Amino acid sequence: MLLRRNVSLAPYLTMRVDHVAREFVTIRSIADLDAARRHCDAPYRILGGGSNIVPVANVSGTVLHICIEGIEILADDGNAVTVRVGAGEQWHEFVEWSVDRDFGGLENLALIPGTVGAAPMQNIGAYGVEQSRCFLQLECVNMSTGERLVVDAPTCRFGYRDSVFKQEWRDVMVITSVTYMLNRQAPLVTDYADVRRAIEGCTHTPTRRDVFDAVVAIRTAKLPNPAELPNSGSFFKNPVIDADQAAMLLSQHPAMPQWPVSDGRVKLAAAWLIDQCGWKGFRNNGVGVHTNQALVIVNAEGGTGSTVWQMAADIQRSVADAFGVELEAEVNRWD
Ligand code: EPU
Repeated sequence: MLLRRNVSLAPYLTMRVDHVAREFVTIRSIADLDAARRHCDAPYRILGGGSNIVPVANVSGTVLHICIEGIEILADDGNAVTVRVGAGEQWHEFVEWSVDRDFGGLENLALIPGTVGAAPMQNIGAYGVEQSRCFLQLECVNMSTGERLVVDAPTCRFGYRDSVFKQEWRDVMVITSVTYMLNRQAPLVTDYADVRRAIEGCTHTPTRRDVFDAVVAIRTAKLPNPAELPNSGSFFKNPVIDADQAAMLLSQHPAMPQWPVSDGRVKLAAAWLIDQCGWKGFRNNGVGVHTNQALVIVNAEGGTGSTVWQMAADIQRSVADAFGVELEAEVNRWD
């Protein structure tokens, strides 16, 4: 276990806000987690690729930086392939590894920043697929008791950008590996309009690699590269409201994008709502809203965590005033 004190978090967070962690531990194995339990104080803060975390200020607890590596094929029956992946592996590299072997199911999730351990935590999703599509189980360690658990999908309670790890198990259960069931026969998911358009241009029967390449191209065009313009991807979730409110809003704003979801509720595009309030391209104190995607807050010039969260609050207020809709942050806030 490598323990360092007063470590700047900026290199570890794609938003690049420069706050300090009092204790910062590099975790390369389950034995490192056991050592951290013995030698470092709670509260623990679990850090993967840092692409969905923005601290408000300096962090007083112990940051556990999960760097557990390894990709292992556990079973292969010719179609289905079971793969266990260390929580510290880079998600995009794992997706590319699977596409290289034609192990299907996750190709729509190309280029999502962050680590494999963070994927079930917030049930990452894009272009019609969520990681839960291929999820089999995960292993985690309870930092209060030291107990090791194997957790299946129902126990994870996957929802839209949500799981039990974002709720009551937050900062208690540390995910150490995730096991996915991929499949060479998994159908391609091409119903998302941008993906369908890209695939329609193919002169041959579309392959998994074509879908992967299309998603990489779409994301590259719309979403800023955190290495060039620090950001945390979508800052807010797309709000889900009841059908009556959705119908009322549509009568007032006929162009408002809406999608029906389960139990008669309706999902709205947070980006559209924010865009309508005039935020796109706005800048203040180094922090702003991306010019190509209104859902992305960018740290263009040395903004702090509190500046980012202040802008988030201002955006939430303006959307609530204009549409009566509450936006919930997708990004995790470290107080
Ligand atoms: N739109 C605007 N203005 C904008 C951008 C979009 O009006 O600046 C409207 C468009 O009408 C568009 C709609 O908003 O039809 C939705 O936009 P988009 O298709 O770009 O997707 P999104 O709903 O903004 C979600 C995910 C992304 C994911 C994409 C593609 C959430 C919070 N975000 O974004 O996930 O990549 O769909 O599936 O669900 C992330 O979670 O970090 C993330 C990037």
